Amino acid sequence: MSKTIIISNRLPVKITKDHEEFILKQSEGGLATGLGSIYRQGNNVWIGWPGVECSSVEEEKLISEKLSEINLLPVFLTQEDINLYYEGFSNEILWPVFHYHPTYAVYEQSYWDSYVSVNNKFKDAVLAISEPGDIIWIHDYQLLLLPGLIRAEQPDLTIGFFQHIPFPSHELFRLIPWRKEILENMLGADLIGFHTFDDARHFLSAATRVLPVQSSANVLSYNERQIVIESFPMGIDNNKFEQLTYEQLVQDNIEKLKKSFQYSKVILSIDRLDYSKGILNRLQTYQMLLQKNPEYIGKVVLYMIIVPSRDTVKQYKELRDEIDKVVGNINAQYRTLNWLPVHYYYRSFEIEMLAALYNLADICLVTPMRDGMNLVSKEYIACRTNNTGVLILSEMAGAAKELIDSIIVNPNNIGEMYRAIIEGLDMPEPEQQRRMTQMRDIVSKFNIRHWVKIYMDRLQEVKLMQASLQAKHIGSQRRHIIEKEYSAASNRILFLDYDGTLVGFDTNINKASPDTELMSILHQLSSDPSNTVVIISGRKHENLEEWFGHLPIDIIAEHGAWQKKHRTEWVEQPGLSNHWKQDIFPILETFTDRTPGSFIEEKTYSLVWHYRKAEKDLGELRANDLMANLRYITADKGLHMLPGNKVVEVKNMEVNKGKVALTWLSNDSYDFVMALGDDHTDEDMFKAFSHDSVTIKVGSNISAARFYLNDYKEVRQLLRTLAEKNDVESTENQNSK
Ligand code: UDP
Ligand code: G6P
Repeated sequence: MSKTIIISNRLPVKITKDHEEFILKQSEGGLATGLGSIYRQGNNVWIGWPGVECSSVEEEKLISEKLSEINLLPVFLTQEDINLYYEGFSNEILWPVFHYHPTYAVYEQSYWDSYVSVNNKFKDAVLAISEPGDIIWIHDYQLLLLPGLIRAEQPDLTIGFFQHIPFPSHELFRLIPWRKEILENMLGADLIGFHTFDDARHFLSAATRVLPVQSSANVLSYNERQIVIESFPMGIDNNKFEQLTYEQLVQDNIEKLKKSFQYSKVILSIDRLDYSKGILNRLQTYQMLLQKNPEYIGKVVLYMIIVPSRDTVKQYKELRDEIDKVVGNINAQYRTLNWLPVHYYYRSFEIEMLAALYNLADICLVTPMRDGMNLVSKEYIACRTNNTGVLILSEMAGAAKELIDSIIVNPNNIGEMYRAIIEGLDMPEPEQQRRMTQMRDIVSKFNIRHWVKIYMDRLQEVKLMQASLQAKHIGSQRRHIIEKEYSAASNRILFLDYDGTLVGFDTNINKASPDTELMSILHQLSSDPSNTVVIISGRKHENLEEWFGHLPIDIIAEHGAWQKKHRTEWVEQPGLSNHWKQDIFPILETFTDRTPGSFIEEKTYSLVWHYRKAEKDLGELRANDLMANLRYITADKGLHMLPGNKVVEVKNMEVNKGKVALTWLSNDSYDFVMALGDDHTDEDMFKAFSHDSVTIKVGSNISAARFYLNDYKEVRQLLRTLAEKNDVESTENQNSK
């Protein structure tokens, strides 16, 4: 039976050593708590670091046995691994850069070397237990190389990757010296998930800028594989938290807390120790509240839990000292004989105590400077069984995209946070209930089971999509069939698009002229009297004439507006007008003036706005804007507006590669019809042809074509093989005479 292998740096349980005895404890952090209740199903396994350094092989064995009882498989790290891979590369490079603190990053080569070596350690652990059919699900920034490392050895495995922290804008990501290697290896996955759409968008932008990938919406094609990038906001086990509040132990805790805070409202704050959590700004806000509104002295408390985390890393140590100092100041300045403003705990709590606090707190204050998701905010909501309570949430937390009924604040705006606390303290109960009910619905619907299900379903869909593209890809078997059909035919016609099909895509349109290899293939193909070779392109006829006019081939230019049969003159498609150009040209000019690198190409019956040299994304943005501007005027004038590869083309509606290709077909009765193309305009051809025609899409975008080839190099290979058939057959024919 196939299994799911979950891999994360940290296992969902931590092992600590107490007087020669190993003790298992639940790990903190969103990843461990979120997936902790899921992994034990079936024969699934979770691979990760147990958080303890062993002094002997015997100890490692002991721990492995203990963990295997609960489906966990440890990867042991040495002290050096911990220093360089975990504290170093993961938490002194990736964590700060991905959380928009680039000045904290230390780009040490030894950190990178160790990151590579530990990712390899995890790879070995996975490959030791994985079997065909298993699903590999890798989590988080400590293991960004793992998808690629596994893929290199097991190309067919299903690999999902999910990142639990933000993915930064390309402007930050590009700072990392090893950005290329990181992205290449992440693309070893089949499905890459993030918490928010913004993270996914940033990843797509980085990948398309750094690597030679093809992208179509959220699908990237890299190394002949399709990888889907999508957002899946993670949920929590809301039932577990809700049920907890009814347990006796939790009820007892609630009673005790109520007694302690009977005269005060409670503001709750729970985080791991981390500079990304905005803890100091929060304390500053609270201080402002007490200073500006002394009426709250004795009437409100801040209950602040900070869970120790990564405190061997410099910035974390410094943060801890700073928090101690600020909390000390506030308490020293405002405390009274029987009231303490900040109840500060630097340790972790049992879940029964957390649930009691969530259930009791009037306000939950979650104000990170950046956070992938933030599960504390969702846990608070799940524990509000009477639908009251106020969540104040930073707009920088992934959760803010879903929990829009919270009071959303900018954590850098102390004044806004201060006003939010007052609003929360004064909020009437019906308003609290209105907001909380909405948020509870969301937390309940998008819970952790839902998250796992939609991620896994999508992963299967991606595999199916890859398989169907793979099945349509012309491999050796299919090529053999095509060759046979080709050889058996005596009157063939081959429609060949030019840019992107016979040559690669060049940023300089005038540079993409045919090279000698291509000319020799075309020459060879067209010299067979059984072949009609047709170049069918959107290019100008003057251009195509110059390149191919001397060959025994037919040429269709400007998508059909100009046509030339071998040994005849160029003719224009009858009935076309180009008066409309005077209305469209000025609009295109405005966009050219506003977009450096863009230019207009004028053809007899069409106008093309090119943006292949414009700054990435700006070009796409302007193209969309241009199309919105042109929509009505083109409809009004019976024109066709066509988005293509880095172009927007406006042409007469009647001009269409499909229509013109059909007129060619009607001239004769062909027994082998083949069409190759890579662009939108070629789809008209593919759709117009009968099902037994050999229609081939170049690239990986969705197409009406029957088959696929990856790029112009594969096209040339196929055409070369077919062309060589001519030679073989003519030699055979000559020999038999
Ligand atoms: N948590 C815990 N023990 C504590 C305090 C917090 O287990 O004493 C858990 C908390 O319940 C939550 C997780 O730690 O599930 C923190 O996750 P979050 O997404 O808020 O932040 P992260 O730590 O992942 O950055
Ligand atoms: C965040 C990260 C996790 C990490 C957790 C705790 O939730 O996304 O990958 O495990 O923090 O951090 P730690 O360094 O203690 O594992």
